[in-house]
Amino acid sequence: MSELILAIESSCDETSVAVIQDGAIILSNIVASQIKSHQRFGGVVPEVASRHHVEEVTTCIQEALLEANVTPQDLTAVAVTQGPGLVGALLIGITAAKAFAWAHQLPLIPVNHMAGHIYAARFVEPLTFPLMALLVSGGHTELVYMKEAGSYEIIGETRDDAAGEAYDKVGRVLGLSYPSGKEIDQMAHLGKESYPFPRAMIKEDHFDFSFSGLKSAFINLVHNAAQKGEVLDANDLATSFQASVVEVLVNKTIRACRQYPVAQLVVAGGVAANQGLREALIPHMQEACPNTRVIFPPLALCGDNAAMIGAAAHVELQKNHLADWELNAVPSLAF
Ligand code: KG4
Ligand code: ZN
Repeated sequence: MSELILAIESSCDETSVAVIQDGAIILSNIVASQIKSHQRFGGVVPEVASRHHVEEVTTCIQEALLEANVTPQDLTAVAVTQGPGLVGALLIGITAAKAFAWAHQLPLIPVNHMAGHIYAARFVEPLTFPLMALLVSGGHTELVYMKEAGSYEIIGETRDDAAGEAYDKVGRVLGLSYPSGKEIDQMAHLGKESYPFPRAMIKEDHFDFSFSGLKSAFINLVHNAAQKGEVLDANDLATSFQASVVEVLVNKTIRACRQYPVAQLVVAGGVAANQGLREALIPHMQEACPNTRVIFPPLALCGDNAAMIGAAAHVELQKNHLADWELNAVPSLAF
């Protein structure tokens, strides 16, 4: 009989519930985005997010079961994101998961949201170890070395802003709506690299990142030009900004894959949807590390979703890493 996990994700501004078979097959993956409610504030408002999760979570559970054509009695376990994320938002998912698991006498599996992002790649092909993950999202930018399933070593991370955060902040200066990563990516393909933005720490012999200097250089350039009455080309700004982000990410990732020879490189998180990053990383990796397979999750699974939580939960269940009814949200949960 196959294993069926009901997975719940509510760490930020998406309420999502999925039913995953054997950690690899998506029977359903319902994603209720709240982005329209946050856009006018230029970012995610935690209290607004929590309220939306309360309204959405029960319906999402019902829809996920219906679409997967399974009943609670068919399920093997319930999985839920424990952290990192917004505490109020996480608590809604955790409370719903506990209630559902209690009512149907199912085991409860706590999942790290960032591990979930890595396991989104499982829907492309099985993960093979050792593995390197470049995790690039709105809250994180890190290189994670996985010697084996369930083992995570952060070998480098951002010392200030995450890559997605930098995209969203420069997008605000360009008058784009939140989150602006996708739009800047599209604009970057229309312009030319005209502004020499910094590549922070690119030559330094470690795997850490920094994007706040780039963000400040961008903002200062735009503000100074506005004071002088100059109009800068928005597409050229996007191209130049993206060139800097991509060059740093590609450079450090290749260096990491050379120092830690790996079977696979998984690029995951919201910024893994970036076309410029995909276009640059794949050929450079092919040249520098031809024995390493580069995997990007499907575009629809780069952002937050419960399918990835179900895939990561499958591994936790095999290791019998279960939670009891005391399970609590951990907003800054580390690996
Ligand atoms: O993983 P995610 O959905 O949420 C977090 O856990 O943070 O990532 C959201 C981030 C946002 O900062 C958004 O601007 C960025 O991913 N993003 C992109 C692209 N699509 C989404 N950044 C660059 N290029 C994209 N195509
Ligand atoms: Zn995320």
